[in-house]
Amino acid sequence: MSQETLIIFDTTLRDGEQSPGASMTREEKVRIARALERMRVDVIEAGFPIASPGDFEAVQAVAQAVRESTVCGLARALDKDIDRAGEALRDAARGRIHTFIATSPIHMKMKLRMEPEQVIEQAVQAVRRARRYTDDVEFSPEDAGRSEPDFLCRVLEAVIEAGAGTVNIPDTVGYNLPHQFGELIRSLRERVPNSDKAVFSVHCHNDLGLAVANSLSAVLNGARQVECTINGLGERAGNAALEEVVMAVRTRQDVFACDTRLDTTQIVPCSRLVSSITGFPVQPNKAIVGANAFAHESGIHQDGVLKSRETYEIMRAEDVGWSANRIVLGKHSGRNAFRTRLAELGIEFASEEALNEAFARFKVLADKKHEIYDEDLQALVTEANLEAENERFRLIALRVCSETGETPSADVTLLVDGEERQASETGGGPVDAAFRAIEAIVHSGTELQLYSVNNITSGTDAQGEVTVRLEKGGRIVNGQGADTDIVIASAKAYINALNKVLVSEDREHPQLGDV
Ligand code: KIV
Ligand code: ZN
Repeated sequence: MSQETLIIFDTTLRDGEQSPGASMTREEKVRIARALERMRVDVIEAGFPIASPGDFEAVQAVAQAVRESTVCGLARALDKDIDRAGEALRDAARGRIHTFIATSPIHMKMKLRMEPEQVIEQAVQAVRRARRYTDDVEFSPEDAGRSEPDFLCRVLEAVIEAGAGTVNIPDTVGYNLPHQFGELIRSLRERVPNSDKAVFSVHCHNDLGLAVANSLSAVLNGARQVECTINGLGERAGNAALEEVVMAVRTRQDVFACDTRLDTTQIVPCSRLVSSITGFPVQPNKAIVGANAFAHESGIHQDGVLKSRETYEIMRAEDVGWSANRIVLGKHSGRNAFRTRLAELGIEFASEEALNEAFARFKVLADKKHEIYDEDLQALVTEANLEAENERFRLIALRVCSETGETPSADVTLLVDGEERQASETGGGPVDAAFRAIEAIVHSGTELQLYSVNNITSGTDAQGEVTVRLEKGGRIVNGQGADTDIVIASAKAYINALNKVLVSEDREHPQLGDV
């Protein structure tokens, strides 16, 4: 029954990054953007170029790296924002400018201090200016969910007339209920005279836990673009989760008159990548991507699934990228098998040298851990990328002593700007001692905001993946490290975070004041 395309607009790199603590470096954003492109996401909102030089460079880097998906930059309805977005997107194969201004009575009166007529005028000017840079312009009336429908109709008609090809209806504060939001979309499409000249999009926040339900209700009422994020990351309670929207539409083709172009087998790898980069864990019972999403605990359910999968499963785990912990490689696997499996996972190497380096790491890992799973390979490549980013500090050696009744201690040797430095410290535990020893060398003055360990696969020989979040002078970064030894993984994650926080990169929180 499905014929029309539902456009998937991913805003993990923009709205997702607005989750406190979820800031990402330019390289991390490019890595996520490549994963989104591999998943065949239609539009990637890469950032808010006017927010800071770091944001500008990230949008520019994503625009240069991505060829298939459209790359989008956000801009308030201001000339300077639009010009900056246009500049950041110059190298994009397909670039979109997304401009917005608030339209709800409370936002216009209290925040913008503007009359409704001025808002319409500014929205139209913004769309016209954006069209100087690209034919692909999206407009959002911010807080549409609390705006007056009559006024919204006037704004939308004017911006479509000015050249907006997509009009996005945000429920900015997550206030709407599904039947109400669906009805809003239906009535806007019916009442705006030129509504057939634009794609109607929705952007729902999750303050009442309704972001996905509201988005789906909008799709049933004619919306043909959904803005969403991986794992539902985003400002406050987050945005609609991409994996839930996409799988609801794909699974219920009996209800939806449209479908996405997505390769859903990339969903779980993408979810893991975003979780490890941001340090935001995925709750085990999270739909689609949670560790328990396809686990059957009750005997009755297990029995039913063994007899016929459909008794208790509405989707196949492998269709969303769960690889069932398949053993893929071992210590006798050769370079070709290694390269082939990584290519199947969508991972390619820039050079033969990079492949050789990754293969050498694989051999070291295979000596420690006899069964290597896809997840291990992904962590290994992430690790290689992280080291490439590690410019100032590198872990050379770590020795910890942990014994009942004794104070744990750690001896650390780091390469600091090419020179070896050593320190020994004690601590509450071996990880604490290792961090103190590293700090005794680096004197970073950072504050630890988050420390989390997750096992990449199951079993006591699994690699531990550690995320460390550090804060310094308002700048927040996340570092990652993986190893079969979690103290070493922790030290690697700490050093990765230090390398990020201590590079002189201008990176503020991306959320700006509004016009
Ligand atoms: O939530 C919101 O209103 C936004 C807009 C910029 C689309 O993020
Ligand atoms: Zn938003």
